[in-house]
Amino acid sequence: MKVDVVLGLQWGDEGKGKIVDVLARNYPVICRFQGGPNAGHSLQFSGKSFVLHSVPAGVFRKNTVNIIGNGVVLDPIIFQEECQAIAKMGVDPTKNIIISKRAHLILPTHRIMDAASEASLGKTKIGSTLKGIGPTYMDKTGRNGLRVGDVLSKDFKKKFNTLKQRHASYLKQFDFEYDINKNEKEWFKAVEYLKKFKIVDSEYELNSLLKTKKALAEGAQGTMLDVDFGAYPFVTSSSTICAGACTGLGVAPTKIGKVFGVFKAYCTRVGSGPFPTELNDAVGEELRQKGHEFGATTGRPRRTGWLDLPALKFAIMVDGVTDLIMMKADVLDSFDTIKVAVAYKVDGKKTDRYPYEASAKIEPVYKEFKGWKKDLTKCKTAKELPSAFKRYIAFIEKELGVKVSYASVGPDRSQTIRMD
Ligand code: IMP
Repeated sequence: MKVDVVLGLQWGDEGKGKIVDVLARNYPVICRFQGGPNAGHSLQFSGKSFVLHSVPAGVFRKNTVNIIGNGVVLDPIIFQEECQAIAKMGVDPTKNIIISKRAHLILPTHRIMDAASEASLGKTKIGSTLKGIGPTYMDKTGRNGLRVGDVLSKDFKKKFNTLKQRHASYLKQFDFEYDINKNEKEWFKAVEYLKKFKIVDSEYELNSLLKTKKALAEGAQGTMLDVDFGAYPFVTSSSTICAGACTGLGVAPTKIGKVFGVFKAYCTRVGSGPFPTELNDAVGEELRQKGHEFGATTGRPRRTGWLDLPALKFAIMVDGVTDLIMMKADVLDSFDTIKVAVAYKVDGKKTDRYPYEASAKIEPVYKEFKGWKKDLTKCKTAKELPSAFKRYIAFIEKELGVKVSYASVGPDRSQTIRMD
């Protein structure tokens, strides 16, 4: 059977957590394949809300196997906190989460390196979540990293100390105050907790499960933050695109089934970097307030702007999206006019291509729509949706060449409308 993939098509925070949770009932296996605790997937159900960072969104569903794949970077301290909060909700995470031996460990010193590097960049900083993601992937590709499987080896402490020493040398170049031993005790305690989980060759487990079961792979961040295809260097450090599901889980490209592309009816971004349709005005503030656009992981106010079709087209192309899912459509309910960028002017020249240069001056070319001015949160079926909203969706589908399969009109699982 196939692995279907859910991906963010913008700069993260598209609402993937909710959609994975809605889709999860159809999948006995849910996997995370990249990123780490920089992600914050918010779920809301039965009046409760929960933010997941490293744990796959199937954790609250009975009889679901949740896989943390080799492409993920795991911070044992954050993972333990998250799992203990899940346990308080009446679910034993040690029973339904399995972890790849090949996933890399975030050490306390990785977090210090992240902070030191960002501080040294000053105004040109990336706006990292400071969870140690970049330095951990640096050690992975530099072939120095510690992996989850290492916690089972006798000389784990020795391996840890070797890497810590390496980090201490690296940190000498920065004019930055830190305590190299910070959080080390808690980290080793959390490693003991990690050992309660099944630490496995998850590529074998998953491929074996696929003989009889289908799986859903849950992307973190968004395509426009991909280390290769985002506006480098204002990107995260992993492959957030569809191909990342293959390398981050050990499944062949021929095993990929549907690719669900999740996007918000407008755009947001946290951290620095290009954002062509950004609104630094009252409309932007209205989007932020109505959409509660504050980071689930860091609490930072998100930058806001209109929907950007050239960026979406780019994401759909590199991801091979088969189904679109529009999130937070209800946030636009009260707007008289809704704008959509249909092209860019880059250095005065009209184009529908996303430029390579992060420094390119991009001026969006907008098409305006009359707002629907109806409360979408009350709509239960596609038939009940206002015609102005349907026209907006039809235009987007025509421009992007992919159907919108679901529209989300509120935070609850039940406020998800099947469009076809
Ligand atoms: P890092 O991955 O924490 O190093 O952050 C690199 C960039 O990606 C920064 O601009 C972050 O704000 C952004 N970023 C990382 N994770 C997320 C996420 O889950 N949602 C949105 N932006 C993110």
